[in-house]
Amino acid sequence: TLTTKFLGRTYTSPLMNGAGVRCTTVEELEALRQSSAGSFVTKTATREPRAGNPGHRMSALPYGSINSMGLPNKGLPYYLDYLTSLPDQGANNFLSVAGFSEEDQMAVLETIAASDFAGIVELNLSCPNIPGHPQLAYDFDATDKLLAKVFDRFDNLELGVKLPPFFDPIHFDQIAAVLNKYPIKYANSINSLGNGFFVDPETDAPMIEPKGGFGGIGGGYAKPTALANVRALHERLRDDIALIGTGGVQTGRDVYDLILCGASMVQVATAFGPEGVAVFDRLNGELQSILDSKGYADVTSTVGQLHTV
Ligand code: DHB
Repeated sequence: TLTTKFLGRTYTSPLMNGAGVRCTTVEELEALRQSSAGSFVTKTATREPRAGNPGHRMSALPYGSINSMGLPNKGLPYYLDYLTSLPDQGANNFLSVAGFSEEDQMAVLETIAASDFAGIVELNLSCPNIPGHPQLAYDFDATDKLLAKVFDRFDNLELGVKLPPFFDPIHFDQIAAVLNKYPIKYANSINSLGNGFFVDPETDAPMIEPKGGFGGIGGGYAKPTALANVRALHERLRDDIALIGTGGVQTGRDVYDLILCGASMVQVATAFGPEGVAVFDRLNGELQSILDSKGYADVTSTVGQLHTV
């Protein structure tokens, strides 16, 4: 089977969408809910609805994608209404949220805490595309300060963090030291490789319009960095902090590698765009074949089973 345990819940597959792709509307979320994905996460919600950045803002690249969406979303109440209307009040699903200041973040969490939402909150600390707002988790002190406030105020939110990619062992140490101070339930690595750039060979211009062409990179380009971040956090975080692996998943092998490195759920973003929910059927099949051939009975027993050379 592909059974995986996550935050005391049992899922029939570790696969789900990554926040952002095909998860903005109720129609898209319903398609995910009825798919063979084990769970789903919403588009990152902000207090107010947002149109996002203007112009052509997402493109396929030879080995992945570039985007500068700017957090277009229908606003927190829309997602809370949908999730709380589900038979289980969204107990097994993920609500991704972001705020633009500490006050804004806290207000978002207040609204969730006051709702009947029974699921998991994913705090996006890593959107690369909002002019004037850095990827918060690159500022370790600011992240520490925010989490101190969050957990001072809320002690029963089931909350995880979506992290940007880190590229230095010292930075792995630093983010892990901050996260280990708080009762976070999980870390999700990685968000896009922030602020990449690509020249359109047809036009000699940037591939996307917002921010002068700078945008988050996903797809195949992200896989080694995703594996590095999941592995590094698996080695550093408290044992009770679960991991979601995200980045560059195109095949069952990619899913398996993230699981070996420590992920108990795996998200698919770039590949989910063109393939739609059929990607989960395909990846479930490919992953099951690998687990069978390796002799693993389920995903839970495979998590972190990286071999030493
Ligand atoms: C957005 C894009 C991303 O690539 C991301 O990681 C988070 C948010 C966005 O612009 O909406």
